[in-house]
Amino acid sequence: MSENGRYRIPNDNPFAAIDGARKEIWAYGLRNPHRLAWDPNPAHAGAPTLLAFNIGLATWETVDVIHKGANYGYPLREGTQAMSPENGMGSLPADDRLPVHVSDTVTHGTVTPTYPVVEYPHSRDGGGDAIAGGFVYRGTLVPALRDKLVFGDITTGRIWYANGADVLAADDGNPATVAPIAEIDADLRRLTETAFRARGGRGDEIPGMGAVAGRGRVDLRFAEDNDGELYLLTKSDGMIRKVIGARVETASTPAATAAGPAPARDVARQPGVPARNPVAATPASIAAGKRAYDANCAACHGNAAQGAVRAGLAISIIEEQGGRQPPDLTDAEWDHGSSDGDIFSVIARGLPPTMMTGFEGRLADQDIWNVVNYLRSLRQGR
Ligand code: HEC
Repeated sequence: MSENGRYRIPNDNPFAAIDGARKEIWAYGLRNPHRLAWDPNPAHAGAPTLLAFNIGLATWETVDVIHKGANYGYPLREGTQAMSPENGMGSLPADDRLPVHVSDTVTHGTVTPTYPVVEYPHSRDGGGDAIAGGFVYRGTLVPALRDKLVFGDITTGRIWYANGADVLAADDGNPATVAPIAEIDADLRRLTETAFRARGGRGDEIPGMGAVAGRGRVDLRFAEDNDGELYLLTKSDGMIRKVIGARVETASTPAATAAGPAPARDVARQPGVPARNPVAATPASIAAGKRAYDANCAACHGNAAQGAVRAGLAISIIEEQGGRQPPDLTDAEWDHGSSDGDIFSVIARGLPPTMMTGFEGRLADQDIWNVVNYLRSLRQGR
């Protein structure tokens, strides 16, 4: 029973049997683990991983895998370095052990600290001021992020990912192993500034400041819904953005240059797909097509397939910079072939590397044909 008698403490808590220790403690030595996330990895359904997003003091922002009874080292360690009372950083001793402080004066043996699995520095060159939290992405809208730990920095609004498998592998007791991280070019700072002004924000800069961010802070947090889809919350412009797409850029992918129609391709049609829609355009097919469209396409192409620009949608996060917004699907121009079969094939296969991902496996063929009937019916209605 707790000291105030108002709640209970599990008997097997790590310090429940140690005299003078707080029996509530599960893990310690974290400076500011202000966001926690359970990763419901389907591969370990019975034992989800608890991740702590820990804001550092002097030099390092970290993600830590939380274990029963573990000591994460603060204030004697930060990141994978030793820290002095003056916040000076140094290398770890070869035999890294810390006293277990039961109180300011009483210690109870020693413990080897548990080291972070992800870290980034307080540096202008690719770092930040304070980790914002994050999630292992288990949604379906952004296949490129699947099974990746997506996290970011509060002030700079930078966003990174690490492979989920690398994150788990870095939880090996060796300070030298941390998961490699890669930055996602979400351009969130500029988006936040633009929305701040568009919504009547006063002054030249977004509010706040940070040592690394300089004047103005994005004030980023992450959220997740039941389907595992990601949301970015930015306090400075008061916006919640759903992450609905990403473009994968590799060294061999030429960056999109000027905005404008993609070059017309003669035939997008996959082999075996008929040129004419085999599903008759009955009211039932059109209605089913509208349902599939509303659920899967409207977020990008607009509620009436009028295209993101005419629908007033800012397809912003992981924006197609300089590239194309989701186009009008009711006009007479099809960039990737205009037969029923071409349109079917584009919907099924997608248009990599753009954020138009393929719906094969997510929508039945019949439903894709229904969507084609629905889109054709919109054209007729104009
Ligand atoms: C995440 C945003 C996104 C979603 C969701 C999305 N699209 Fe797209 N779509 C795009 C973008 C961007 C393009 C333009 C790609 C290009 O040509 O550069 C596009 C292109 C297309 C095209 C080609 C248009 C042409 O002129 O040839 C079709 C057809 C299409 N989408 C249909 C759909 C349908 C149907 C759905 C739902 C089942 C859907 N899209 C869902 C972003 C999206």
